[in-house]
Amino acid sequence: MNKRRVIYEGKAKILYEGPEPGTLIQYFKDDTTAFDATKKAVLDGKGVLNNRISEFIMTHLTSVGVPNHFIRRLNMREQLVRKVDIIPLEVVVRNIAAGSLSTRLGIPEGQSLPRPLVEFYFKNDALHDPMVSEEHIAAFGWATAQEYDDIIALALRVNDFMSGLFAGAGIRLVDFKIEFGRWFENDHDMPRILLADEISPDSCRLWDAKTGEKMDKDRFRRDMGGVTEAYAEVARRLGIIRESG
Ligand code: C5P
Repeated sequence: MNKRRVIYEGKAKILYEGPEPGTLIQYFKDDTTAFDATKKAVLDGKGVLNNRISEFIMTHLTSVGVPNHFIRRLNMREQLVRKVDIIPLEVVVRNIAAGSLSTRLGIPEGQSLPRPLVEFYFKNDALHDPMVSEEHIAAFGWATAQEYDDIIALALRVNDFMSGLFAGAGIRLVDFKIEFGRWFENDHDMPRILLADEISPDSCRLWDAKTGEKMDKDRFRRDMGGVTEAYAEVARRLGIIRESG
């Protein structure tokens, strides 16, 4: 295999230089981390599942007009994506209280929220991704006012679409994290905001609609076991992989 140039290596993915200018190859590892990477494991086959699940969701989002970086899947662990300049914000959308929202505000896990909440966190591992407001985003120039409005509108559209998609599979979309980037289609153009990164059970909370069973990375965070099995069940319910496997 050709030695490819690594552009960036993250905790769960590697970005390689793509075959054409303006493209990257996104490789999904089996590595899993939590709590600022203080907890680590290699979960066999997780990367393969996340590649397929993220492909499925991004492709559907394209078809409902949510612009994103996905171009096509290349193989079991890799997808071709558009190269974007990542905006240093983690955008979290919540429908049901869980995780850091429950911890921070004392709202019991499982309580439905009166409306979807959009939150922003500054992407910075050393600072543990602190929560930030629109004021910080404007003051420090992380996004323009127009980009901020676009990001909120896109995040809510992603939430609407995914809530329906998962509901059809008997799964409640509790919350999720997404990232956006600036895409310069031509060098002289104004950049467009594209949804980037991945959408998978690593970055969503997914609960079985009937039993409430967790089908996401909380199984890893809480040492519940059956992590890849739960991800495979998500893929099966979405019709991405067949019943047998
Ligand atoms: O921990 P918290 O409740 O803020 O997480 C909200 C959602 O964002 C969860 O679905 C979690 O998996 C996701 N998340 C993520 N990456 C982070 C932080 C949160 O995918 N660095």
